[in-house]
Amino acid sequence: MTNELLNSRYGTQDQPANLIWNDHTRQLLGHRSVRAYLPDPLPDGALETMVAAAQSASSSSNLHHWSVIAVTDPAVKRELTRLSSSDYFGSSMPFVQEAPAILLWVADNSRNHAVATALGVEPVSLDYLDALVMATADTAIAAQNAVVAAEAMGLGVCYLGAMRNRARELADLVRLPPYSFVVFGLAVGRPDPARSADIRPRPAQSVVLHHDRYDATRGDGWLGEYETATRRFRAESGMRERSWAESVVVGTGRPYLDGRENLRRMVEKQGYRLG
Ligand SMILES: Cc1cc2nc3c(=O)[nH]c(=O)nc-3n(C[C@H](O)[C@H](O)[C@H](O)COP(=O)(O)O)c2cc1C
Repeated sequence: MTNELLNSRYGTQDQPANLIWNDHTRQLLGHRSVRAYLPDPLPDGALETMVAAAQSASSSSNLHHWSVIAVTDPAVKRELTRLSSSDYFGSSMPFVQEAPAILLWVADNSRNHAVATALGVEPVSLDYLDALVMATADTAIAAQNAVVAAEAMGLGVCYLGAMRNRARELADLVRLPPYSFVVFGLAVGRPDPARSADIRPRPAQSVVLHHDRYDATRGDGWLGEYETATRRFRAESGMRERSWAESVVVGTGRPYLDGRENLRRMVEKQGYRLG
C-alpha cells in the first residue's frame, strides 16, 4: 500500500525512503482531486465537521479572518458554473453543478473591521497588502484542514481557483460585505467510483526541499524524469497526451487569466488599499 502510494506520487523518480507512515500520512499521500461526483447530498454532520476542522487550524494573531459559504442550491450552483467558465477552456467544469456542495472560501476582514471601528479604532492595517496576504493565507490553511477532514470521511474535493475568474460578479451574487473576497471554491461530494481519479505525480523531493539555504542547482535535470511520471499518469488516466511543461505554458500564459487580471480592481473596490 505505501509502495503503491509512493509509486503513484513519484513514479520512477527518487522516492523518499524513510517516511513515517500512519493513517494520517497514508491519507495525505493518497489525495487526488475529484471531478466526478455521485448526486448524494453530503452526509449529516459532514459540513459541520469540515468547518470545525477548518476552525481548528492556526489563525494569524487568532483573528479568524475567513468565512465559508456552503452553496447547495442548484440555481446558485448554475450561476457558479457560469461564473467559473473560461473563455480559454470553455465550460470545462460540469462537476461544479454535479457536486452536492460548493464551498466558497472567503478571506474576510469585514468582521474585524466592524469590531475595531465599533471600538473607535481605525483598522489601518487593512490598508496594506499584508492584510490581504494574511487573510488569504489563513483562508487557505483553514480550507485545507476541511479538505483533510472531508477526505477522512471518504468524501472527495476539488479546489476551484476558477471562482476568481469573475470575482466581482461572484461577490455580488453571494452578497459579500466590504473587506472580503472569495479566494477559491471547493467542490465536495461523494466520488463516483465509475469515474474515479488517480493520484497525480509530484516532482522528486530534491526539487522542492532545500536545507538551510535556497540552492538553485538542486534538482538540476529533474524535468525529464517528472515528465516521464506525468506522461504515465496521463496515459493511465485516459487523458490526452500533454507534457507538464505545456501545462506551465498555459498556466502562466495570458489565456489562464480568464478575468483574474481584474482581481486587484475588485479587491480595491471591496475596500482594500494594498499599500
Ligand atoms: C488553489 C487551487 C485552485 C484550483 N483550481 C482548480 C480549478 O479551478 N479547476 C480544477 O479543475 N482544478 C483546480 N485545482 C486542482 C488542481 O488542478 C490540482 O490540485 C492539481 O492538478 C494537482 O492534482 P491533485 O489535486 O489531484 O493532486 C486547484 C487547486 C488549488 C490548490
